[in-house]
Parts: sequence; C-alpha cells; structure tokens
Amino acid sequence: MAVERTLSIIKPDAVGDNHIGAIIARFEDAGLKIAALKMIQLTQKQAEGFYAEHKERPFFASLVEFMVSGPVCVQVLEGENAIALNRELMGATNPDDAAPGTIRADFATAVSANAVHGSDSPEAAKREVAYFFSAEEVHSR
Ligand code: PPS
Repeated sequence: MAVERTLSIIKPDAVGDNHIGAIIARFEDAGLKIAALKMIQLTQKQAEGFYAEHKERPFFASLVEFMVSGPVCVQVLEGENAIALNRELMGATNPDDAAPGTIRADFATAVSANAVHGSDSPEAAKREVAYFFSAEEVHSR
C-alpha cells in the first residue's frame, strides 16, 4: 500500500473545546505520523479560498464564518493509505451519522461544527497540503 500525505484540520469548535491532544492521539494511535503541524487563525480570504469548490453551496457563508471563528490546528498526516484512513478515523460529515468511536462521533456537535477536516482524494491532499505548508515545512519520518 502506498505511503500518502493528507491534510487534516482540527476546526475551531474542537480547538475551543480543548480536544487538540485527544484528536492528535487518534491519528498517532492509528499509526499515522505527524509530518507537519501548526496553529493558525484563518483569514476570511484564506477560508474562502480553501473551500472555493463549495462556493455555490447554501452553507458556504456559514462554513467560512465558522472556520474563522477561532484558531485551527492544521497538520499533515503521513502513512500507508493516509487519506482513507484519516477519513475513517474522522467518521461521517454529520456527527449524527458518524460511527461510534470516530472523532466526529466523540467530539463534534453538529454538521456545521464537525471538529475535523480531512482531504478526500490524492488530488485534494496535494492541493490542501500546499495551501498551508511549504515543502520545507513537511517532514517525513
Ligand atoms: S464532504 O465530507 O466533503 O464530502 O462533505 P460535503 O457534504 O461535501 O461538505 C463540504 C464541506 O462543508 C461542510 N458542511 C457544512 N458546513 C456547514 N453547514 C452545513 N450544513 C454543512 N454541510 C457540510 C462539511 O463539513 C465539509 O467541510 P470539511 O471541512 O471538508 O469537513
């Protein structure tokens, strides 16, 4: 199986609720390596750019407003099958549908405040990692 990199974001709700460590532990316990990590306050422009593919969707404005409502923790996860594995760890977009034991089942409160983001394809992962990190900031271990 190929070693992949994927972008993960711990969203403002989970950062505000003090769940950074617990969520990072889920990634590490599953065998994923943290290849890059930083906490940032997204600007409106950064959040709009990151979610540009969703700009026609009815929730776009509220999604952007939520993502700038407080700091986020962005990290690059690396490992075999990292993209799908991270999505599995995250659980379904709506926490009401998320399987027990997943990050969203345990830490998210609503579809509009769902604790984490994870790249959904190799193409998205490449684009999203580069959106937040230079090549020099990502460390294979
Ligand atoms: S997914 O997981 O990308 O397939 O989900 P999708 O349904 O395409 O949603 C795209 C992103 O929008 C978020 N989302 C919402 N935000 C606010 N309100 C509502 N109702 C809502 N529905 C979906 C969803 O969490 C996705 O963001 P990310 O950051 O990728 O999780």
